[in-house]
Amino acid sequence: MKHEILEKNVGLMAVLILLVIVVGGLVEIVPLMFQAQTIEPAPGIKPYPPLRLAGRDIYVREGCYGCHSQMIRTLASETLRYGPFSTAGESVYDRPFQWGSKRTGPDLARVGGRYSEDWHRAHLKNPRNVVPESNMPGYPWLSQALVDPALVERKMRVLKWLGDPYTDADFASIHDTVTGQTEMDALIAYLQGLGTTSPAVAAAPAKAAAP
Ligand code: HEC
Repeated sequence: MKHEILEKNVGLMAVLILLVIVVGGLVEIVPLMFQAQTIEPAPGIKPYPPLRLAGRDIYVREGCYGCHSQMIRTLASETLRYGPFSTAGESVYDRPFQWGSKRTGPDLARVGGRYSEDWHRAHLKNPRNVVPESNMPGYPWLSQALVDPALVERKMRVLKWLGDPYTDADFASIHDTVTGQTEMDALIAYLQGLGTTSPAVAAAPAKAAAP
């Protein structure tokens, strides 16, 4: 019997087991290498405009992701609270993405437009000014530091080189939109943009304001 030859020959068995693992591994791993090309930006999703891009980097620098996720899961309890669930096509211009799973605070994937700019300003300076029971730290120094337009331009050039479709008009807008803005302005612009260009949000019926 042919199978007996295999069972009595450890060397041959080891080689064939290895072959099965290698083929199985390749079938799982190779498609991942083309994921960047296969996930298309969702309609309406564009690279971050200059001020929001600066704000995103401040979000990353300050470690906001340590307490906030940006991924609404496909569960009713999530979509009822935060809005339509997140899709991969919404995050194609996020490097690195901010999905996360740690939620000391609420998910922020669709927080854009939920509060006024003044609310964010007061909240980021000292969260307990607006939410007395909050344990989020304050970030008052962001109002003092200015965003450097030259640095934003360099970042946009790198992102363009990596494939983000920035246009000449985007580069021309850096000076007008970023010069003189504080890090607080940039962070708030970033937060106010979160989720607002999502096609799922545009398609969803208007939600009653959160209590
Ligand atoms: C130690 C954990 C922690 C960190 C770090 C943190 N937060 Fe929070 N955040 C919270 C908690 C808890 C809440 C809920 C209470 C409140 O509104 O303050 C919250 C609420 C928020 C809200 C309101 C969300 C909503 O839907 O009501 C925003 C916006 C926000 N945080 C932004 C930020 C930003 C931006 C940073 C980084 C600069 C940050 N947070 C860092 C814990 C944190």
